[in-house]
Amino acid sequence: MILKTSNGSRGVGVIWVESKKSLEATVQLLYRENEYIDVLLQEYIETKYDVRAIVVAGDVVGSMKRPVPPGDFRSNVAQGSEPVPHDLTQLEIDECIKAAKSVNGLVTGVDFIPANDRERDKPFFIEVNSTPGLIGIEEVLQKKFSITTEILKKFFNRTRWKDHPAKPDRSMIGPRSYKVKNTQGV
Ligand SMILES: Nc1ncnc2c1ncn2[C@@H]1O[C@H](COP(=O)(O)OP(=O)(O)O)[C@@H](O)[C@H]1O
Ligand SMILES: [Mg+2]
Repeated sequence: MILKTSNGSRGVGVIWVESKKSLEATVQLLYRENEYIDVLLQEYIETKYDVRAIVVAGDVVGSMKRPVPPGDFRSNVAQGSEPVPHDLTQLEIDECIKAAKSVNGLVTGVDFIPANDRERDKPFFIEVNSTPGLIGIEEVLQKKFSITTEILKKFFNRTRWKDHPAKPDRSMIGPRSYKVKNTQGV
């Protein structure tokens, strides 16, 4: 099982919990340090990599695969992952757009673990970052195109400024959980 704190980023605050005993002790410690802390439990999804997709105003503008480094379960660049460009299936694109919409995100970093059958089965979303850092993905995708340029191109179109809905579309949130944070974690 995976335990997360809502104010963590870059993999720090994401804890591998092996037993009920260690869950209780870890939660006790977290609440002692901060009685208002939000914690989230997720099923551990076994995977060799996760995916970061950048969704801007309802479109996926870039994505990368982040392999899990040896000896860890977290695939953040800050934890040693070396990401590579990665193409999404149409189903993954559609689901990432829904995930971004569920938090009313204008520029979001959507992290997910792919299904075994990526064409047919929905991915497992693990986090939606509301203010994703773009430097890492720019570096990874530079040979193909610039995410920042894609973002600027979208917002040169002023109709998008008023199109943006005032409230998140909670109806988009399905049985799988989304963690929403205000961090730049990569
Ligand atoms: N439920 C999960 N199952 C398997 N691995 C996970 C799960 N949740 C997170 N991870 C791994 O931990 C990393 C960090 O988790 P994430 O929720 O994205 O927090 P952070 O804000 O620190 O990036 C992910 O990129 C992924 O590699
Ligand atoms: Mg993350």
